[in-house]
Formats: sequence, C-alpha cells, structure tokens
Amino acid sequence: MRLLSTDASAQAAGPVTEASTRFDPFDPAYVLDPYPALAQLRESEGVFFSPAIGSWIVTRFDTVKAILRDTHRYSALIACDPLTPLCPHARGIIAASDFDVPPLLVNNDPPSHSRYRAFFGAPLKRERLAALQPFIEQTVEDHVTRMAAGPSPADLVAALTWDVPALVLFRLLGVPAEDVAKVKHWASSRVMMTWGRPSEAEQVKLAGEAVEYYRYAMALVQRKSQAPSDDYLSDLVRLRDGDDGKATLHEIGAIAFNLLFAGHETTSSASANLFKAILPRRALWEAICRGEQPIAPVVEEGLRLDPPVQAWRRQAKEAVELDGVQVPAGARLLLVFAAANRDPVQFPEPDNFVPGRRNVMQHVAFGTGAHFCLGAPLARLEVAAMVASVARHLPGLTLVPGQDYPYTPNTSFRALRQLMVAW
Ligand code: HEM
Repeated sequence: MRLLSTDASAQAAGPVTEASTRFDPFDPAYVLDPYPALAQLRESEGVFFSPAIGSWIVTRFDTVKAILRDTHRYSALIACDPLTPLCPHARGIIAASDFDVPPLLVNNDPPSHSRYRAFFGAPLKRERLAALQPFIEQTVEDHVTRMAAGPSPADLVAALTWDVPALVLFRLLGVPAEDVAKVKHWASSRVMMTWGRPSEAEQVKLAGEAVEYYRYAMALVQRKSQAPSDDYLSDLVRLRDGDDGKATLHEIGAIAFNLLFAGHETTSSASANLFKAILPRRALWEAICRGEQPIAPVVEEGLRLDPPVQAWRRQAKEAVELDGVQVPAGARLLLVFAAANRDPVQFPEPDNFVPGRRNVMQHVAFGTGAHFCLGAPLARLEVAAMVASVARHLPGLTLVPGQDYPYTPNTSFRALRQLMVAW
C-alpha cells in the first residue's frame, strides 16, 4: 500500500464541465443515496473530470468493463493509495515505522500480479470453502437465533451482518475469534484513511492505527510460520516451503493485512445492503420465506443494485478516448460500479429489484477480468446463508420506519453502520 506516494499535484487533470461541478461523493445527500445523481451523470456525461477528488469519473457499464479488462492500457497500482494525500504529521508516523505493504494483488499489474494471483489464489480452492460451509451456517444460525430471542426492535448490523463475515474470515485465516472487534475497527479506519476525507487530526490517528494493524498481520504470519495449522495462511506457509522465490513471509503478511480488510468489510456491507433492499419488498420477502424464491439470484441482484464496492480505481498508462472524451496519460480513473450496475443499456429498469434478471451475472460488483474478486464464491455463500437463516427464524422481520441510514462518507465502500429491524 503506497501510503506515502500520492501526490495530488501530479494528477492528470481535465476540463471542468457541468458534471464536474455537480459530482460530490462526500455530499450527505449523495452518501445517503448516490443513485439519482449517478443516473443523471451517466446520462449527461459518461466520463468527466472531478477536481474535487482529482480523478476522472467513469459511469457507463461498457466503458467500466472495457477498462477493467484492459491491463495493458490501465494500471491497478493506485487502487489503494489514499485519495486524500496524508498530511506531513501522518506521513511521518508511517515513514518512521516498519510499515511496508508491497503491491501483490488488487493494486498490482501483470506480470507480477499474475504470478502472485496464482500463488495466493491456489489455496482458496473449492475444498477449503466447502469445508467452511458448516461453520458459516452454524455461526449465522447462532447469531440469528440469539437475535430472535432478544428484544425487538434491534440493529441487524450489530446482531448479524457486522460480525459474521469477520468470524468466517478469521476461521479461514486461522485468526482468534476474540480479535473481531479490534480488526473490524482497523478495517473501518482503513476505509476512512484510503477512500475518505479525514481531517489532519484524524489522519494522525488513522496512521497510528494502520501501523498497529500492519504489525498485527505480520505477527500473525510469523506465528503461522512457527506453528502451521489447518487454515489458509498456514497453507501459504506450506506452499512457500521456505522458498522466497515463491513468496516471502513478509508478502504473506501483506496478504493477511489485505484480507483482514477485503475479506469481511465488503461482505458485511453486501448483506446489510441486501436486507435493506429486500425487507420492504414484502411480496419478494414472503416468497423467500415460503421457499418459493431461490436465494442465489436474490443475492446477485442485491450485489448489482447496491454494490458494497461502489467505485474502484485505475490509472491510464497512455492517453485514451473514453466515451468521446480525451483523457490524458497518467489520469486517475474512478470506475463507478454503482453507476455501471444501473446502466439501463445493460440492465433494463435498472432501479427495480428483479431476481433472476437474465444477465444479472454481468454486474461488476466483484470487478471483472484479471482482478476479479478471489473471494466472490465465499461472499455469495455467506450472504445467502444469512438470508436463509433470517427467513427461517424471522419471517415477520420489517425495517423500522423513519430510521436514519448511517453510511461512512467515502468514495468506494457503501458500508451501512446500522439497520434497525422489528418483528
Ligand atoms: C460481497 C463481498 C465482496 C465484494 C463486493 C468484493 C469486491 C471486490 C472487488 C471490486 C475487487 C477488485 C476487482 C478489480 O480490481 O477489478 C476485489 C478483489 C479482491 N477480493 Fe473481493 N469482494 C468481496 C469479498 C471478498 C472476500 C470474502 C475475499 C476473501 C476471502 C475477497 C478477496 C479479494 C481479493 C484477494 C481480491 C484481489 C484480486 C486480484 O487483484 O487479483 N473479497 N473484490
């Protein structure tokens, strides 16, 4: 993670257009519901420069998909750079520490990316996921029955969707379950530090937390190397077999650092966003509860309609033309998956929740191409297990009317922090 390399002045800027002045991903109205604004922008200017975040915004499905699939002209190296360059004090904290996360997967390019993807992807195989399934179902079941036995109304995020993906990921990685709260906190800090607009005082705090979180991941992998067990990180240690040419322990630590974020924050949001979408659609919810509506297409349509990763970054390696707009070499691109997934050219009646829509699997919630999410099968399993268990135990569940929907203001993650439900 190149925490120190972002330099706003080095960005390849573009003209200020009508869309540039309208687009503000930190506007509270946009944070609450970005979709009306994105529909207008996608319609009027598919590609435009945003001076507010020093990036070119890309909103149409075909263009987003073409960029994701073209690793020759577009680099992923900037994917995890802080959007808001860190202040000198925060930079000093990182620079004075041992923090060092090399680009491996999500923020790396071929050929290095391809080599690491083969190594780190291999143990995430079907059998390991299949072995996790009973644990997923039991963990979900425990949380839902505990919630059902407690008072109504309750917060579905606190009771279910916040912890379960972390507990599953921890089982996969071989991390003690009692560390959930700590790691969840670090993951939220990382969202703010990388994709948010923290004040200088906040940046200083976040930089300190990033160092702590990094050290936690590195220490975890050291322990695995001394006493490998039956988990993904131990699989990597065994595959490495002491050969730094395959991967160093430091690189395995960096993967742990990344997965301790990517492997749960996204799935927590996917499940909370999905419950928010389906509970008010009573005919659909009742069909799910009666077992008449298969759950897998519901999960997929939820990912399309309200993707947890709303936007992701690439950088143009050369000057390109996108939707008739000239974009200079070096331009930072914000690919807005939330807009692409509702492009009516690709998905008719895009604002409607239509489980089983013919081409739903085309959505880009997990990206597409070389960097397609390695955890997609696991995430799908988890979200489906949560829907199935809630439908079984709490068929009368409804959203509490008139509630606020708190989302963390940032460009990339639609992370609902509370969802009040009653039964
Ligand atoms: C609903 C939940 C999830 C969503 C929406 C999601 C979304 C994404 C997206 C958008 C990317 C980047 C694609 C690109 O750059 O083109 C990605 C990459 C990745 N995700 Fe996920 N993810 C989810 C869950 C998970 C889980 C559970 C894991 C791990 C267990 C995981 C591991 C990864 C990894 C390792 C990459 C990097 C792949 C590469 O660059 O080759 N994700 N994910």
